[in-house]
Amino acid sequence: MKAGDELYSAVGPLGHATEIKNYGKVIVVGGGVGIAEIFPVAKALKNAGNHVTAIIASRTKELLILEHELKTFSNECLVMTDDGSHGRKGFVTDTLKELLEKSKYDLVYAVGPIPMMKAVSVVTKPFGVFTLVSLNALMVDGTGMCGCCRVSVGKEMKFSCVDGPEFDASLVDWQELSDRNCIYSDKEKHICRLNGMR
Ligand code: FES
Repeated sequence: MKAGDELYSAVGPLGHATEIKNYGKVIVVGGGVGIAEIFPVAKALKNAGNHVTAIIASRTKELLILEHELKTFSNECLVMTDDGSHGRKGFVTDTLKELLEKSKYDLVYAVGPIPMMKAVSVVTKPFGVFTLVSLNALMVDGTGMCGCCRVSVGKEMKFSCVDGPEFDASLVDWQELSDRNCIYSDKEKHICRLNGMR
């Protein structure tokens, strides 16, 4: 949006707040705009006495956000880009796996694109570290009525908007979530084309 544009409406806060307590050693992982979501969580976890390691990543340097802020509110902040234009080249899972091999952690908290969160879940599972993800399922009403944000978690049906958005990553049906999030992609592309957007 441009300065001066208006939103039609906004609703929130929705769902459950992140449970902030002293877990011990925590890794927060943020990919793309997910970095904006992990920032207040990292800050609150640090203030609650946790040792916080942040791993943040974007496709390229220009797309990386809140690096300074996360460096300020974490014990260590590891930066990665897909193309190596800033920080280490590679994916968050490379660094995450190395950290888990070196030390014991009590919580991994990840927000980013679905493939990234799924990959984080695959990496943390063998280490048995509790992993929370904040799901970005498609939402319409945001109040538990439309069913658009339905996800399967541990074979139970949940609504991301009222039951989440955070869930135990090891229990999420990632394939179903990916499939459901693509349902309107043709229409989204069509609307973008009509509006001259990429
Ligand atoms: S967005 Fe409608 S039920 Fe969650």
